[in-house]
Amino acid sequence: MPAIAIIGAQWGDEGKGKATDLLGSRVDYVVKFNGGNNAGHTVVIGDEKYALHLLPSGILSPGVTPIIGNGVVVDLAVLFEELDALIARGVDVSLLKVSANAHVIADYNRTLDKVTERFLGTRRLGTTGRGIGPTYADKMNRVGIRIQDIFDEKILTQKVEGVLELKNQVLTKIYNRRAATVEQTVEELTAFADRLAPMVCDTGLLLNQALDRGETVLLEAGQATLLDVDHGTYPFVTSSSATSGGACTGSGIPPMRLDQVIGIVKAYTTRVGEGPFPTELDDDFGEHLRKVGAEYGTTTGRPRRCGWYDAVIARYAARVNGVTDFVLTKLDVLTGLEKVPVCVAYDVGGVRHDEMPVNQSDFHHAVPIYEYLDGWWEDISGARTFADLPANAQAYVKAVEEMSGARMSVVGVGPSRDASIVIHDLI
Ligand code: GDP
Ligand code: IMO
Ligand code: MG
Repeated sequence: MPAIAIIGAQWGDEGKGKATDLLGSRVDYVVKFNGGNNAGHTVVIGDEKYALHLLPSGILSPGVTPIIGNGVVVDLAVLFEELDALIARGVDVSLLKVSANAHVIADYNRTLDKVTERFLGTRRLGTTGRGIGPTYADKMNRVGIRIQDIFDEKILTQKVEGVLELKNQVLTKIYNRRAATVEQTVEELTAFADRLAPMVCDTGLLLNQALDRGETVLLEAGQATLLDVDHGTYPFVTSSSATSGGACTGSGIPPMRLDQVIGIVKAYTTRVGEGPFPTELDDDFGEHLRKVGAEYGTTTGRPRRCGWYDAVIARYAARVNGVTDFVLTKLDVLTGLEKVPVCVAYDVGGVRHDEMPVNQSDFHHAVPIYEYLDGWWEDISGARTFADLPANAQAYVKAVEEMSGARMSVVGVGPSRDASIVIHDLI
């Protein structure tokens, strides 16, 4: 039985949460393997709407064991706030397991994230301000604090003392902020230790044993391919591995156990924060997509930048992740347009690029080469089979499939769980 990864194929907010929820009844484990509470997944089940940040969306599916993998950075206060909010709504969260090797976000890293952005001014990245970048930097710099450290106050104190020596120099001398104290930091990090303890285990072992038993594991990415620290539009990226490779390193599941990679793409493109975005629209069409698609961030509430579908980045995501199936979301948002432009290649200084340019500065100057597909006017939100779609909507799906490097297996026509057209079964 398979290990399946769900990854974002654009700049995030493609609808990964809904896709995970759609598969929830057919899987045994759902693993968050990267990122932290910078993610924002909206899941709509009947009349209920849930906004998840740190927890994997699979927590909403009864009987599924949700896992926070070793590749995640955990803000403990947010974890318990989110759990308590779900408990208050009657969701059973008792199966949650957290990797002993995941790193924790301390207050000094939240502060550093915010003050660094302010310091950068016009060169800022537009982060979510949740301390994600500084915490991953500490991990790579080998001064991070891990979940397991919380249960050994002596080790924790030693580590906090060590890390604060440098952090406090930076906080006080460069950014003119108050120093963090060892006592406060240790107190903050141990505040939830008793509640956390029963959840902590070797999640890599748990998952591999589950696969040995023939159970199904779904690995749910936060962020997306173009925000991946290696494969994204660096430096305008997040600080984790959001691609299918990251699904392995962030969970402890080896690459050869991964059977399927599902790429989630919106029928158009959005981006939150700074950085290049070739098909971005600064006109009425951009405003139209934002309004009809309700494109405002789940985490920060920021308006999302909107543009047309970009087949170059979809092909790139298909290649980098080994996408076996795409889920094309929000097709309903494109209803009512005379023509729907789709970017098929870029023009960079008079040279055509069918693939992502090697140099980031070329990508900043990429001018989309569009193909104009015919629009449709019929309401498609009630369509449940491919045949229910008007001919031009069918042609749009087929055309973007042809350009994007993998089959379109599911098409989303609305936010709710059932508003999906399954063309090929995913599991
Ligand atoms: P994620 O971060 O990838 O999980 O995506 P978000 O939840 O941040 O953003 C996707 C938004 O689109 C959410 O508000 C979903 O409820 C909504 N959504 C998902 N699929 C569809 C769809 O097919 N049509 C429409 N109209 N909305 C959708
Ligand atoms: P989901 O999982 C969209 C963006 C931020 C910023 C950059 C770095 O909902 O798709 P960070 O706080 O991670 O250091 O910010 O990455 N970003 C996202 N954009 N969706 C997300 O998550 C994002 N997570 C981070 O806006 O540009
Ligand atoms: Mg999101």
